[in-house]
Amino acid sequence: MRVVRRIADLGALDGDVGLVPTMGALHAGHDALIHAAGRDCDTVVVSLFVNPAQFGDPDDLAAYPRDEDRDIRRAEALGADVLFAPGVEEMYPPGFQTWIEVEELSRGLEGEHRPGHFRGVATICLKLFNIVRPRYAYFGQKDAQQLAVLRRMVRDLELDVTITSVPTVRDADGLALSSRNARLSPAEREAALALPRALATRDVAAARTALSHLEGAGLEVDYVEVADFDPPVLVAAVRVGSTRLIDNVVLEEEPR
Ligand code: PAJ
Repeated sequence: MRVVRRIADLGALDGDVGLVPTMGALHAGHDALIHAAGRDCDTVVVSLFVNPAQFGDPDDLAAYPRDEDRDIRRAEALGADVLFAPGVEEMYPPGFQTWIEVEELSRGLEGEHRPGHFRGVATICLKLFNIVRPRYAYFGQKDAQQLAVLRRMVRDLELDVTITSVPTVRDADGLALSSRNARLSPAEREAALALPRALATRDVAAARTALSHLEGAGLEVDYVEVADFDPPVLVAAVRVGSTRLIDNVVLEEEPR
């Protein structure tokens, strides 16, 4: 596996290229994306870039887990061909001032709680697509609004890439894997399990009731809603201590 830090060093990539954009701290959720890319593509590029533009809170950015050596070993063991790990200056050189705004889809849910987040996500993903030129790009269903925003961007801008979604990978207890889970104490993790349990009802009223019972008892609800994505999902975000968790379940599997 080649570790590439400069855009100019990527060079030509063979055959159908699959891109798996990540911010590192790789876990089994990321592994599933890399596996899917390996099944479909001749060359698998994993990008590792903690994108400052999608963090509103500087403390959240500073606290983001980073372990590049471990990520390199993991990506290599999973069969990635290239790990593209640029520095911030490479992606946002001095004078950078062009942004992608997917207007409506970026507004509610996560967009409301994290202003500017999806502008940062859309911009970095378009930039990665232009740098890597993938045939397929892989994203987790875990971040359902991110998927919806990126699918819209690809359609609106006629981008020549196919977005492929991969089902959410969960721990045995049902909690969706996230780099943020490491911050949960055992008691907080127990409280956090209410989130997948509530969503498993696939019923917005039942999920709201189940989660509202826990408000004040270690869990705060940001939202529980049905989002009219394709496919529609029941989405929720909660805060457990200082950790914010999001999760969703697909309501109807639609043929594409
Ligand atoms: P990151 O949080 O590192 O996630 C990278 C990819 O892994 C995303 O597509 C995300 O949906 C997927 N993923 C995370 N947890 C998952 C799980 N439990 N099951 C399945 N897939 C999972 O999402 C980002 O980075 C960034 O916003 C990025 C797209 C890289 C742009 O900076």
